[in-house]
Amino acid sequence: MSTIFSGIQPSGELHIGNYLGAVKNWVELQSKYECIYCIVDYHAIIGDFEPESLRRRTRQMAVSLMAAGIDPAKSTLFVQSMVPEHTELAWIFNTVTPVGELERQTQYKDKSQRQESVNAGLLIYPVLQAADILLYRADLIPVGEDQVQHLELARDVARKWNAKFASEYFPEPKPLLTATRRIMGLDGQAKMSKSLGNTIGLLESQEDVWAKLRPAVTDPARVRKTDPGTPEVCNIYNLHKAFNDAATVEHVATQCRTAGWGCIDCKKVLMDGMMRELTPIRERARELEAHPEIVTDALAAGAAKSGEIARRTMTTVRETMGLR
Ligand code: TRP
Repeated sequence: MSTIFSGIQPSGELHIGNYLGAVKNWVELQSKYECIYCIVDYHAIIGDFEPESLRRRTRQMAVSLMAAGIDPAKSTLFVQSMVPEHTELAWIFNTVTPVGELERQTQYKDKSQRQESVNAGLLIYPVLQAADILLYRADLIPVGEDQVQHLELARDVARKWNAKFASEYFPEPKPLLTATRRIMGLDGQAKMSKSLGNTIGLLESQEDVWAKLRPAVTDPARVRKTDPGTPEVCNIYNLHKAFNDAATVEHVATQCRTAGWGCIDCKKVLMDGMMRELTPIRERARELEAHPEIVTDALAAGAAKSGEIARRTMTTVRETMGLR
């Protein structure tokens, strides 16, 4: 059976963009595969950060994931720094990774351009990611388009290490692309992202969600309620497709094209669909916040389980390479 591995940054509470684009799929995969999900705090220390904020965001991410349906009884959920073998394998992989390939990574080029002093961590970020995956010899990696290049590098690292030390020990991991198109932010301009402040949090109250949804950008052609619109260009329509059934989505499209509804009417129907899905998640999160030991215990159990696999892999890797 395939092993699934994926990682998510400790960015605090999930927003509906990461939920629809990634985590919802992770939840579904749990019943089909052996799944390992990791909150990647070692990756999160490359830029500036406050230690207390990192700790809080890591915790909030764990709560969000469990509330969204990542079930520690079905899959392994843990925090990367609780299994330090990730960094050990990353060091070993650094020694088989050409710098040129790291410099060609689009994400590195984008990020390094915007900084006057680039730390080595930013360059070797994808090597740590390769170690995350290969430590568990995972072969299927649910990610978005933006991570495909990093996975190519992980395959390359596996191939190079295998060629040098032990052919076929590490499998070459393949991306499992998520079907959902990327979710645009409420500004309708850019991908939904916390740093752009265009998100809806997964755990926000109904009132707070509505306060954000009400002024959200729609089809600019609909200036007046009587102006007909084009659903396909509207970000709100896109969200209907994520939260409402096909019949409702079709009705929404017709009401938009014929100016039967104004945008506020349309958003109210979206709101109903969203709350149907998000209210139980929010309630589970409140429950977990009231009983923090549930989350602490789940993460400890997850780290014990993944740590066992990681230590086994590292024993083989060290022995094969003549270390110790
Ligand atoms: N780089 C990924 C992101 O920013 C996070 C990540 C780290 C990851 N390690 C991983 C994803 C391993 C998949 C597999 O989204």
